[in-house]
Amino acid sequence: MRIDVVSIFPEYLAPLELSLIGKARQDGLLELNVHDLRTFTTDKHRTVDDTPYGGGAGMVMKPEPWAQALESIADARIADSQEAATGDSADGPAKKPVLIVPSPAGERFNQALAYELAEEEQLVFACGRYEGIDERFMEWAAARFTVRPVSLGDYVLNGGEVAVLAMVEAIGRLLPGVVGNPESLVEESHSDGLLEYPVYTKPSSWRDRDVPAVLLSGNHGKIAQWRRHEQFRRTAERRPDLLAEFDAGGLTRADRTAFGELGYEVVEGRLRRRADSGPAD
Ligand code: ADE
Repeated sequence: MRIDVVSIFPEYLAPLELSLIGKARQDGLLELNVHDLRTFTTDKHRTVDDTPYGGGAGMVMKPEPWAQALESIADARIADSQEAATGDSADGPAKKPVLIVPSPAGERFNQALAYELAEEEQLVFACGRYEGIDERFMEWAAARFTVRPVSLGDYVLNGGEVAVLAMVEAIGRLLPGVVGNPESLVEESHSDGLLEYPVYTKPSSWRDRDVPAVLLSGNHGKIAQWRRHEQFRRTAERRPDLLAEFDAGGLTRADRTAFGELGYEVVEGRLRRRADSGPAD
């Protein structure tokens, strides 16, 4: 996968040289280029923003430096690829790269979107600052890219850089070969729509607290069931919103009993709070 990030603070992306993502870059599993938006300005002051039409607080990012930056990235990509002559491959027209614009006004980033984006050949991230980027840039970009404004969550950051750090890590670790043991991707929070079960290590007794006995039993069936029911309990307690989306069709009788004890019943393949079970929190 190739990732390009455009920002006025390229140093902000330095952590992407570390740890698993840094190693993936060194190993050639991920090509990641960070571009300074100001190199695509033409005036002496390297201006990237201006006051908003219609008035109001803050500054708006000018469209032209962004268009220049993305044209340069698209040109580099075509020059690199074997499709240079036509922009097409034997399979048909070249697929538009995805342009992700981090924004609190975007669709929510989650594990499903991370998996979807991990399938792409190229991702471009445009880190806006201030009040955002002139909307005409978005319209212009839509002809060349699949544009996806994406939000990390329902809160406001000062710019897109922190969101890009999070998204590149979440996407990058799903690329083949990046995480040493792919099993660990299967058994983690959100991989099956539930939160992860609690984990324990040695010693089995620590400061008067014992590891749950079932984990020392050696009974793998019981351990698997205990872990699954701990996932249900945690998810019901911390993220009941996830249970509303959960596909309850495959639940075993024991699973249904466990959910019953948590105040849930299965109605038409979905989990619902029982009317007599009181408020969710
Ligand atoms: N930029 C500012 N706030 C953001 C958020 N919540 N998610 C993604 N990008 C942002």
